[in-house]
Amino acid sequence: MASDRPIGVFDSGVGGLSVLREIRRELPHEDLLYVADSAHAPYGDQPLAAIEARAIAIAEFLLERDAKALVVACNTATGAAARLLRARYAVPVIAMEPAVKPAVATSRAGVVGVLATRQTLASAKFSDLVANHGGAQVLTQACPGLVERVEAGDLEGEGTRALLAEYLEPLLSRGADTLVLGCTHYPHLAPLIRDLAGPEVQVLDSGLAVARQVRRRLAEAGLLAPPGAGRDFFWTSGQPARLRRVMERLWGTRIELWPLGEGVAAPGLARDPDPSARG
Ligand code: DGL
Repeated sequence: MASDRPIGVFDSGVGGLSVLREIRRELPHEDLLYVADSAHAPYGDQPLAAIEARAIAIAEFLLERDAKALVVACNTATGAAARLLRARYAVPVIAMEPAVKPAVATSRAGVVGVLATRQTLASAKFSDLVANHGGAQVLTQACPGLVERVEAGDLEGEGTRALLAEYLEPLLSRGADTLVLGCTHYPHLAPLIRDLAGPEVQVLDSGLAVARQVRRRLAEAGLLAPPGAGRDFFWTSGQPARLRRVMERLWGTRIELWPLGEGVAAPGLARDPDPSARG
């Protein structure tokens, strides 16, 4: 298997860019393919079977583009479909795990608050994670509506602030001094979360840990890319023209964003993308 093949990364939308950012830092030589499944966000409100179907469709798309590994940059899709993807495909599948373990280990108050989607909090994977890391009280808070705010690019508006304040209050009032961002959309709101929670509260996510895990898995398999500048490729099932603005803001540079839709040819890596399909 050639080590210069790309890494495929996906999320229900733009949230996984918070993970992609860490992968790009950790692995500068790799080509990265990112799919934002924004037409189907939020996954957290969908039945399990629908999330599984999306995960398989996107995995197939990435593997057709020669992905040598898959990164599920979505906690909700991890709970719903990571095991399925691992059973189905031979490439390494790296998935999310909310940072409960480091939070429990470092909380001075012994009270940790986890913010995530309803689906993630209800998953067996999450219950096991909490059960296996005792030693602190773990409070949970589902945050319906937050993913939609991030998808809309509303990272600091009054509505987003009010929603976050409502979700943080039950955790902070019960003494949480450590907050775990258990959804990859939420690190994009970290400045606002820090502002609302105050400087005494530490805010953790798992982007860096996942990026390191990707590096470890590729190294073990002899699949780290040879030196060279890695390239980034982006697709969305949502509206490219609108999402490109949101994604460029989150990613920090201009990007080309390709439609991932029925009947629309998506660019491969080998040939130049069709400029007429540009969003
Ligand atoms: N970024 C996804 C996650 O980490 C968002 C979930 C959703 O679409 O509901 O859970």
